[in-house]
Amino acid sequence: MKEKNKALNEKKALAQLGGGQARIDKQHAKGKLTARERIHFLLDDKSFEEVGMLVTHRSTDFGMEKQKFYGDGVVTGYGTINNRLVFVFAQDFTVFGGSLSETHAEKICKIMDLAAQNGAPLIGLNDSGGARIQEGVKSLGGYADIFYRNVRFSGVIPQLSAIMGPCAGGAVYSPAMTDFTIMVENSSYMFVTGPNVVKTVTNETVTAEELGGASAHSVKSGVTHLTAANDIDCLEKLKRLLAFLPQNSNEKTPDLPYEIGEEYREELATIVPESANQPYDMREVIEGIMDEDSFLEVHPDFAENIVVGFARLAGRSVGIVANQPISLAGVLDVNSSRKGARFVRTCDCFNIPLLVLVDVPGFLPGTDQEWNGIITNGAKLLYAFSEATVPRITLITRKAYGGAYDVMNSKHIGADLNFAWPTAEIAVMGAKGASEIIFRKEIGSADDPAAKLAEKEAEYAEKFANPFSATERGFIDEVIDPTLSRRKLIKAFAMLKKKVDTLPNKKHGNIPL
Ligand code: HXC
Repeated sequence: MKEKNKALNEKKALAQLGGGQARIDKQHAKGKLTARERIHFLLDDKSFEEVGMLVTHRSTDFGMEKQKFYGDGVVTGYGTINNRLVFVFAQDFTVFGGSLSETHAEKICKIMDLAAQNGAPLIGLNDSGGARIQEGVKSLGGYADIFYRNVRFSGVIPQLSAIMGPCAGGAVYSPAMTDFTIMVENSSYMFVTGPNVVKTVTNETVTAEELGGASAHSVKSGVTHLTAANDIDCLEKLKRLLAFLPQNSNEKTPDLPYEIGEEYREELATIVPESANQPYDMREVIEGIMDEDSFLEVHPDFAENIVVGFARLAGRSVGIVANQPISLAGVLDVNSSRKGARFVRTCDCFNIPLLVLVDVPGFLPGTDQEWNGIITNGAKLLYAFSEATVPRITLITRKAYGGAYDVMNSKHIGADLNFAWPTAEIAVMGAKGASEIIFRKEIGSADDPAAKLAEKEAEYAEKFANPFSATERGFIDEVIDPTLSRRKLIKAFAMLKKKVDTLPNKKHGNIPL
């Protein structure tokens, strides 16, 4: 017995070393932590239980039978984060570059199945050279087994991906199908085809960082939701994100304790400028309304004309979708519609109520937008809101023009409560544009066309550049004093806490993808 225990402990010690000290040192020299260190910093102290520590690959080609490492390049198991159960896999770059073999994939699949069966989030820490080249199609099959589970468990449990090293080729599709992706700056990249293939096929010269680094995917493609300065920052952000999510789609995110007080917020009265054309930062409104320092912006650098993210309101996790007047005047375009739609669906599948802040001049015109499918992409946002059954509240701070009024969680597409500030303007378009069209003849034949336009503009603004005609119709439930917004929203979300709404029976809808 003693001998057996000694052998087991030796095996475990070897497994802990991954591909050996030299390779661990190399990983550290790149500024990266090892798989085990990452798990250590991610999970609650001493909570990690490893599953499959002594698994080895079964490959015998290319002399592989002589090269075996316990764990086979991935550390898998379960533990807790803030006392909540999570399942985790961390690819170990020190073993065959973290490449995915048949057994490596089996380990990940086992953990994914356990996560789904036990209703707890799955966190993948990706750091891999891709398919284990020595294993050929067995490795490709392993990837597909993971993809299949990513999809099967989508909307069942939260799936979070951290990209903490290479993630290339078809391997990118697993993170892409999870709910959130975080990339570490300067040490991670994601691309379907790397710089060498790009050079051969298109003759473009590009570095891995330019092609698929954290900056490329946070700003240009929107593939990553967040970026992190280093491994530790990445793990901290995962934890922060997870706190806003429930364990699974049958549960709600636990509320933080909160004692309701006066909830008056004076600063909200002065954020919207006098002039309708002057921008302001919608984040100030978010911060004014939500619990202090609770806002976690998602996709902060992509399609900045819409702001999405999580925050707490009186301790409750809430998803926010907000037009952003300081970027493109808050207009809806292809990317902001995609970004908003994805976020709305994420919140909806995990029972997170939605707060929608509206200041939108409409959809962005132009050939670029039309040819890139603003119709289909705008429809995604409209579809996502219309389909969402979570509590949904809208607050119009200023403009709500044209089709964008409908799209931004209007009463007509199922919002539960719609509020407006006195500064709201709910109309087909801005007063100037509207007057130029409907009073064109009158203005054209006037002695002083400019003065006539101004007069007509004022007339139109008087009628529509306010929230009252929409309120008279019941499209807006109440025009509220900005300083009382927080109190109003706390009460409204509390009223909606047990909301039940179900979609008509169907296999699934057909969102315009
Ligand atoms: C087997 C691999 C490997 C792989 C790396 N290694 N990638 N072993 N299969 N895919 C091994 C290396 O041989 C090396 O072993 C060790 O891991 C570390 O790799 P290095 O090259 O020394 O590290 P680095 O310089 O940091 O470069 C990392 C890298 C490079 C850029 C990822 O290793 C690389 O280009 N690897 C190949 C990537 C690739 O083409 N993968 C297949 C993609 S196709 P030693 O023993 O020397 O330390 C794919 C399809 C997926 O993935 C399809 C899914 C549907």
